[in-house]
Amino acid sequence: MPGYEFFGAEERKEVNDVLSSGILMRYGFDGMRNNMWKAKELEQAICKTFNCKYAQLTANGTAALTTAMAALGIGVGDEVIMPAFTFVASFEAVLSVGAIPVLVDIDETLTLNPDAVKKAITPKTKCIMPVHMCGSMADMDALLNICQQHKLLLLEDACQSIGASYKGQHLGTIGHAGTFSFDFVKTITCGEGGAVITNDEQVYIKSDGYTDHGHDHTGVDRGADLHPFIGYNFRISELHAAVGLAQIRKLNQFLTIQKKNHQLLKDILSKVPEIRFRNIPDPTGDSCTFLSWFLPTEAQTKAVIAKMKAQNIVAGNFYWYDNNWHYIKKWNHLKNISTLNRLNDAQQQALNKLAQQDFSASDAVMSKCVSTAISLSWTEKQIVEKGEKMVEIMSE
Ligand SMILES: Cc1ncc(COP(=O)(O)O)c(C=O)c1O
Repeated sequence: MPGYEFFGAEERKEVNDVLSSGILMRYGFDGMRNNMWKAKELEQAICKTFNCKYAQLTANGTAALTTAMAALGIGVGDEVIMPAFTFVASFEAVLSVGAIPVLVDIDETLTLNPDAVKKAITPKTKCIMPVHMCGSMADMDALLNICQQHKLLLLEDACQSIGASYKGQHLGTIGHAGTFSFDFVKTITCGEGGAVITNDEQVYIKSDGYTDHGHDHTGVDRGADLHPFIGYNFRISELHAAVGLAQIRKLNQFLTIQKKNHQLLKDILSKVPEIRFRNIPDPTGDSCTFLSWFLPTEAQTKAVIAKMKAQNIVAGNFYWYDNNWHYIKKWNHLKNISTLNRLNDAQQQALNKLAQQDFSASDAVMSKCVSTAISLSWTEKQIVEKGEKMVEIMSE
């Protein structure tokens, strides 16, 4: 899955360019930088690769989500509907702008169940945020319909699904805005980095300013920039952008390998009659970072995970149901409102309710689900060995 598997001379060259210019910051120092702008170049490459009008790089994917929400005008009292299976960053970003995360059930797409979304809409709902988990997509037609009917914003957390698409459109470019993460374990990496992508000029201009203390970036003298609104420092450095630039040029190569390895493993696991695979609304658009599969019962799934552990082949097989980062069941810090600073009253009330909420429909999906990470560096022989061992364990 992660681009770090294929680091090489290309990344070193880009980083060395920055080191030799000596300008590690993405803004300013125009005279000294020899016309080298790695962050700008990466933003242009993102627009070209994903066919969108604007891209704003950020320090990481969490900052990209926060920035996108601020740029979309999401704030205190607004409800953002999001799935109960995601990474903690998705709700952290909602809380950081003063808004309320409304967690709802997922289905076998492993992301938002459109019926659960409909039921969660209130007069305070401002935005629906699908999280395209594990390389694949939410049911975007259904979610777009709901957004249009209720005049809601659609923000796509595509941090885990770089290079995936839905009916020919790249994930992240379908809603009002989308976000990517380029952290160390993502499909392409900057080490740390992220991006807001959008086709809306105003969302872009606001994202650009918000990530750099509100600077309007209209002149060549940073000191003379105006500040039309308050922003923060969510900037990416030139060093990180340089790594990303080398990586984005390899994206198609990564996706081709991922898809090939994914198909081979899927063919092998298909020999197990009890296995069902994740429901993928547009299978041709799957980026194939993971192969997610279900066994008929929680007990069978837990037994298989235990056997894989015992035989030392569990690495790369994720049982999210028991994982501390990705599923509501173990998010006690959220349910107990364990924050360092006081949340606003609306947030506190919502989180008190969340602790009592019934997620049995999501439990029924997650408790039977395993996601196998697809490695770029596997040989065909290794995939066959791994797959056959897994089949053997499941057939015992
Ligand atoms: C779904 C999702 N959203 C947001 C993020 C946050 O990205 P970052 O680690 O770059 O802050 C991640 C990172 O794992 C993620 O998986």
